Amino acid sequence: MNVQDLIDLRDNALGEVRAAQDAAGLEAVRIAYLGRKGLLPKIMEELRNVDPGERPLFGKTANELKNAVAEGIKARQGELAGGTGDGPGFDPTQPGRWPGLGTRHPITQITDRIVQIFQTLGFTVADGPDIETVWNNFDALNTPPDHPSRDEQDTFYLDNGDLMRCHTSPVQVRHMMAHPPPVRIISPGRCYRRDTPDATHSANFHQVEGLYVDENVSLADLKGTLSYFARELMGPDVKVRFRPHFFPFTEPSVEVDFTCHVCHGKGCRVCKNSGWIEILGAGMVDPNVFDAVGYDKAKVTGFAFGMGIERITMILYGIHDIRNLYENDVRFLNQF
Ligand code: PHE
Repeated sequence: MNVQDLIDLRDNALGEVRAAQDAAGLEAVRIAYLGRKGLLPKIMEELRNVDPGERPLFGKTANELKNAVAEGIKARQGELAGGTGDGPGFDPTQPGRWPGLGTRHPITQITDRIVQIFQTLGFTVADGPDIETVWNNFDALNTPPDHPSRDEQDTFYLDNGDLMRCHTSPVQVRHMMAHPPPVRIISPGRCYRRDTPDATHSANFHQVEGLYVDENVSLADLKGTLSYFARELMGPDVKVRFRPHFFPFTEPSVEVDFTCHVCHGKGCRVCKNSGWIEILGAGMVDPNVFDAVGYDKAKVTGFAFGMGIERITMILYGIHDIRNLYENDVRFLNQF
């Protein structure tokens, strides 16, 4: 036996592999060539009788033969199982396997939607860090030293005295410190509060903050802006209602309701028969905030608003438990 014999043998073997029509036939070929009593072990024994000068090449060719046959068998197995696309085992009449497309998380989708709406009004996105100074998160926002939200029971403090921001309002402070008026920004981001998780509370959640500062900005501008936003987000017949409220950083402050998207204001289970759904907090920027960031409160006025993304997402999609948004169960997420 010589090297040429091996090459012929390999070609024969591969021919038989290709000719095999089912798994059993293929297995028979495998046993005949690669099995313990097959041809290959015999060839290895033959090595002893080969001329010493030819031995290395013979050994190498024998090895290649073994690998070629093993690979050929594997490929043919795949074809017979119908997996390789265009082999003889491929059945073009079978329906294809749809690999499925990923979708963006509902929180991301709603955030993007909200940001988009304000971008059409000329707002630009501003960003800030999750870890904030007490000054940015509270002091500059006119929050008195004894305000309950400063309590360690409500806010996560770090060992160095900083904190995990409990709202996106410190982004306003950062932006005004860095830019002279006029300002028109929208800032989505993650917030943290020491809440016990339940169906409507999560220790981390998302808000979108908006801020508009210029000369002669009025409460009417706020109402017009938010009415436009409500219609874009929920539909053309949605109305907006302001209720007096209190925030340290705005004066006057309001809570803003939209007409219920389910009953359109008639009253139903979702809006507890009131016809209205609370959507966000807002108000006119308190002059003390302008003082803190170095704006001239005699020259400029402004409005600010902040809304919880989870809450809006849950309202729009009819999700009853905020935890669904954080468990990353694909059966839930696939629906969006
Ligand atoms: N920061 C407020 C909150 O977390 C929301 C808000 C923002 C209210 C801006 C008024 C103005 O509840």
